[in-house]
Amino acid sequence: FESRQLTGRHVIITAGPTREALDPVRYLSNHSSGKMGFALAEACAEAGARVTLIAGPVHLATPPRVQRVDVVSACDMLGASETAVNDAVASLGAARVVFIATAAVADYRPAQVAGQKIKKGLKDDTLDITLIKNPDIVATIAARADKPFVMGFAAETQQVEGYACDKLSRKRLDLIACNDVSRGDIGFQSDDNAMVVFWPDAGQGSSAAAPGLGRAELAKAPKTQIARALVG
Ligand code: C5P
Repeated sequence: FESRQLTGRHVIITAGPTREALDPVRYLSNHSSGKMGFALAEACAEAGARVTLIAGPVHLATPPRVQRVDVVSACDMLGASETAVNDAVASLGAARVVFIATAAVADYRPAQVAGQKIKKGLKDDTLDITLIKNPDIVATIAARADKPFVMGFAAETQQVEGYACDKLSRKRLDLIACNDVSRGDIGFQSDDNAMVVFWPDAGQGSSAAAPGLGRAELAKAPKTQIARALVG
């Protein structure tokens, strides 16, 4: 890990959960802590990159020399990501821009946000809420004509590597890091992580288990250390 190897690059990172409003006082969300994305932001800044961190609602301090943009919903996060990528590509060119998607974006949002607090029905024991699909932020960025280098994450509870390889090609990613969130000792709220990384590689690095893909393992370590290993 060389300390200034990302000098001259702009790294844009999404992190944390998103919140999808149901009404003025309620929302749908998830337990993402944002720790992996914040650790990566810190590691990239230490490595000399200009870093923009697009964060959902999390309780974490902004790492030194990182420009933070706070967002709430998936649609806000997409807008902020597109703005950041547009600006970075315009000033440096796509080849010097890296987009890293660590955010646990809500897959769906309520189709309608009630203007007033939804009241409990006196007679109804059930409440139906229609959800619509959120935009896929990382896939949207990877589909650009002026595509930066795009990295995604895959947290799975089964067939971890198979699903990750599928995501790599479906979302047109340049790199994917996957981990098994059914393990209690790593992932989500934890300070530690362990990962397997895949990237398109038709040549020598191609692994037998995943033909056409390179594969590398990062053993269980603190997220700060995993972040440094990913940067390297
Ligand atoms: O499809 P899945 O949610 O498992 O994919 C995970 C990867 O895609 C992560 O890198 C995540 O940040 C990104 N993602 C995204 N926008 C979504 C859903 C996932 O950027 N709406």
